[in-house]
Amino acid sequence: MRIPLSRRAVLAAASAAAASALLPRRAVAASKAKIKIGLLLPYSGTYASLGNNITDAMKLAATEHGGRLGGREIEWVAVDDESDPAKAPANVNKLVVGEKVDILTGPVHSGVAMAMMQIVRQEKTLTIVTNAGAQALTGSLCAPNVFRTSFSNWQTSFPCASVMLKDGRKKAVGMFWNYSFGQESMSAFREGFTKGGGTIVKEIPVPFPTTEFQANLSEIASLKPDAVFVFFAGAGAAKFIKDYAAAGLMEKIPLYGSGFLTEGVLGAAGAAADGIKTTLHYADGLDLPANKKFREAFKKATSREADVYAVAGYDTIHLLAQALDKVQGDTSAPKDLIAALESAKTDSPRGPFRFGKTHNPIQNVYVRQVKGGRESVVGTAQKDADDPAFGCAMAT
Ligand code: BEZ
Repeated sequence: MRIPLSRRAVLAAASAAAASALLPRRAVAASKAKIKIGLLLPYSGTYASLGNNITDAMKLAATEHGGRLGGREIEWVAVDDESDPAKAPANVNKLVVGEKVDILTGPVHSGVAMAMMQIVRQEKTLTIVTNAGAQALTGSLCAPNVFRTSFSNWQTSFPCASVMLKDGRKKAVGMFWNYSFGQESMSAFREGFTKGGGTIVKEIPVPFPTTEFQANLSEIASLKPDAVFVFFAGAGAAKFIKDYAAAGLMEKIPLYGSGFLTEGVLGAAGAAADGIKTTLHYADGLDLPANKKFREAFKKATSREADVYAVAGYDTIHLLAQALDKVQGDTSAPKDLIAALESAKTDSPRGPFRFGKTHNPIQNVYVRQVKGGRESVVGTAQKDADDPAFGCAMAT
């Protein structure tokens, strides 16, 4: 039933609407101030190329918004986190307490991210995780002010188990860098593989960032599994692929992994990477207009090929731009900004993307295979993959 409004009520509503349109938000006046974006990323060591691609893609997306977010010019403040969890508290404090960044982004390394969480939860800094996959970030340590534009490690590793099983590989060896991401990646893979009837013959943890693989490769050769599931990334992954091929194992014992194994390293690994199958929420060969546009723009801006790390950086800024436009650049009302970010959408190079209740992406996970130096999409391992969000109160 429609209740007729009195003339006075109509006039009051109209004048309130007009007033609110005329009255700028608190921070529109302050919007002349630059918005400070902190980048906590590795610019040295084995993950340096990952940090550089995230940064350059963020800057590319920013130029697509005229260098402004919510009407405010951007000031970037970058710290090299060296992928070192021990240095993380000091590095995070430098950005959050010292620089008072409006928004913190990064890191790549899950151990660094775990150390970061303690501080950003306490300071309530709006934080966007642009790579690190540790479950706890959007699980047991989830927080309203923390978002992730990348993945949880479960999303990228669990689906690989069924891909291997479908290929008829029933006995596997797992090998991984022995820190939170590698351990959780192995555990997600183990869960899927053993539930599906497979057997893990041996798990081989390797200290991060060691790249001395020879003894482990000899052991794998003697164990003769049907396949090997691996987590390495960046420069270490390129070295592992080359060593694996040089040991004559590629033809005998196929290599699988979450897609970080081959991501961004195909140039360095060369022909040795051909045939490797992985699961990830992105592939350079995804036949989507948004992906083609992004890859061309990234190549033009950097003379390098884009990868999954660049996609996360690119999407981060596009999502932030939408949210900040909605609140007219006002970062002083966290609830409004968080709500705006929760509902932000982007035409991502990876395909459909939306934030789930825990602020982790819900996204497709593709099956990829390296063919002639490119990642071809050979299937979809999981459509609209959500994260189990173990222990996050926001999930309920
Ligand atoms: C991580 O530590 O979470 C991570 C590092 C590199 C690639 C993927 C994940």
